[in-house]
Amino acid sequence: MRKNIVAGNWKMNLVSSEAKMLLSELDKFQDDGVVKIVFPPSIFIQEALTNTNLKVGAQNFYPKEKGAFTGEVSMTQLKDIGVSYVLVGHSERRMYFSESEAFLKEKVNAALSVGLKVVFCCGEPLDIRESNQELSYVKQQLKDSLFHLSEDEVKNCIIAYEPIWAIGTGKTASVEQAEDMHASIRSWVKEQYGTLVSEELSILYGGSCNAKNAKELFSCPNVDGGLIGGASLDHEAFVSIAKSF
Ligand code: PGA
Repeated sequence: MRKNIVAGNWKMNLVSSEAKMLLSELDKFQDDGVVKIVFPPSIFIQEALTNTNLKVGAQNFYPKEKGAFTGEVSMTQLKDIGVSYVLVGHSERRMYFSESEAFLKEKVNAALSVGLKVVFCCGEPLDIRESNQELSYVKQQLKDSLFHLSEDEVKNCIIAYEPIWAIGTGKTASVEQAEDMHASIRSWVKEQYGTLVSEELSILYGGSCNAKNAKELFSCPNVDGGLIGGASLDHEAFVSIAKSF
């Protein structure tokens, strides 16, 4: 049985008093049936690891073990302090930090090489959706940066489908749009890695997912949870989303 997962991507938000408060509130909610992961800004990762039982992920890292890369943090350092997950391929990193498909592939490989699990984000911009090319666009993203992996490696990945037009806009994909894409993603994983792997791989939806629409989205057979941005900053909203399976 694949896992139900809710992951909170805090992005570049909160100061330390707010982060501590949010972590302690989230830590109070225990539900063994749902994997809860927080992706705080890197300066709050240690706080999350030390003072909560939550699974902790990093929003970013540089894919070299160590060296003269001023300002960067490596996957090796993250793994060493107890981080379990990393985000790779988020549209904001693709867009604002010019992370190319080749660089994302390097990041995926680097993270898996030290035993981190990868939440790989994909998703199309509005013009691609409007010209009905979203399936081939997303398939290409997966081919470019994920589908080179071996079967054993891909088992340590989660895919997050995040249509760019839905991120932070309040405009959520419809249940039909989400299910259609998620079912397609699972069929491509099946083509590449077989039925067993495709049935075990969790595929999350992201893009204005909130306490109101989570239940409907999570009821889709191929939606295994959410990658939550804005709503993950409010503990009541995040917990309510985690209870939406
Ligand atoms: P949002 O962000 O929930 O604020 O739309 C989702 C994401 O970017 O991961």
